[in-house]
Amino acid sequence: MTVRRLGRGIAIVGAGMSRFGAFPGKATRDLFVEAFQEMHASVDKGIDPRDIEAIYIGNYSSDLFEGQGHTAPIMADWVGLAPRPATRVEDACASSGVALRQGLIAVASGLYNVVLVGGIEKMSDLPTERVTDTLATAGDVLYEIPAGFTFPGFYAAMATAYMARYGATPETFMRVGLKNHDNGALNDKAQFGSTIRQVMDKKIATAKAKGRPVPAWADEMAFLHDDGANPVIAWPMRLFDCSPISDGAAALLLVSEELAKSFTDAPLYVVGSGQASDVALHDRAELTTLRAARLAAQQAYEMAGLSPADIKVAEVHDCFTIAEVMATEDLGFFAPGEGWKAAEEGQTARTGPRPINTSGGLKSKGHPVGASGAGQVIEIWKQLRGAAGPRQMPGNVNLGLTHNVGGTGQTCVVHIFERR
Ligand code: COA
Repeated sequence: MTVRRLGRGIAIVGAGMSRFGAFPGKATRDLFVEAFQEMHASVDKGIDPRDIEAIYIGNYSSDLFEGQGHTAPIMADWVGLAPRPATRVEDACASSGVALRQGLIAVASGLYNVVLVGGIEKMSDLPTERVTDTLATAGDVLYEIPAGFTFPGFYAAMATAYMARYGATPETFMRVGLKNHDNGALNDKAQFGSTIRQVMDKKIATAKAKGRPVPAWADEMAFLHDDGANPVIAWPMRLFDCSPISDGAAALLLVSEELAKSFTDAPLYVVGSGQASDVALHDRAELTTLRAARLAAQQAYEMAGLSPADIKVAEVHDCFTIAEVMATEDLGFFAPGEGWKAAEEGQTARTGPRPINTSGGLKSKGHPVGASGAGQVIEIWKQLRGAAGPRQMPGNVNLGLTHNVGGTGQTCVVHIFERR
């Protein structure tokens, strides 16, 4: 495979996000303004927004979620950047990971020196059934959706194939959710800022206050096995295996490497970028791995001249808990069929040897689909700059990776970041 290189070095010098969650009364543009303002304040030596030359916005479907198409120029206007060129990038849940790649290509080409990359989505205005139908348009509407598939169903099919092939069990996936809720509880931007233990305690307190029978779960696993507390959505994926329906926005400031130090003494250099596509799920020979993820990772590692062992922290696309297990194998952190064991052994915990999703991941931080890829970069920005607060990893955290998947893996984009 050809090793592809960027035409020149690129760094991220500012990053910000809105809180992720459900925000009735706030439109996408309000959330994007919040993300932009935080990004603006994060640029250590300051930036005059008029120096931003172009905008790339990842968004899956403002058309269907909000009835608003043509969103990129609206975002540019609301942060005062009109008449800069503003382009919307759509690749399902990988939209803003791909928008980042488009921003990189624009700066690497020499066309621009300073570019804003954003991600936006506002999903919570629709009832769950309509959100499910809207998300399903990221599958194959000719061959898959008429057969009854939904996104929980797609990932349930991958989970059952993975369990049959490698011996994982539903408990494996529960442990991934448990871990990501632990991490999300330390993230003030997370939709679910609580551990599973805290969720249980809240339910017990509510039952007592209302005079209802008080649940007597022995521990977190008993709670997760309780069909009432943690219902099956598409077996073996239960409620706490699914990312939620979310609103949110994120913003990143990209500049050419030679300008980076004029904005901050601690830029995040983008040293690897890879992207690949794949056929729809029903056409694949294998359901236990995403070929697009393996190829995107290979491209990113080769561009960076790095191997999986070099990466200190990774944010991976855990839209469902099975997806995190598969991601850790596709990225080369564990051999095929070994990722589930590593998850059960706690290797992917924040304090383990291979920390995954220290932000809480999409499961706990939230999954406003078009914003999720850029949101992943925010966590790497924080961890590599020592600014992740109570969830900061110790030691020299100098290399981080993001893995952002569109649909069932028909798109995957991987980026590697370095603090020098
Ligand atoms: N994980 C944990 N708890 C969740 C949750 C999730 N994913 N989604 C909702 N909840 C909680 C709510 O906070 C609420 O708790 P409360 O009763 O203590 O207040 C309760 O569950 C009911 O919430 P509600 O909004 O009515 O849930 P729902 O049944 O309408 O939706 C799902 C649940 C799983 C169907 C929905 O979150 C979903 O569709 N997720 C998948 C999204 C998706 O496919 N994204 C794209 C991936 S590629």
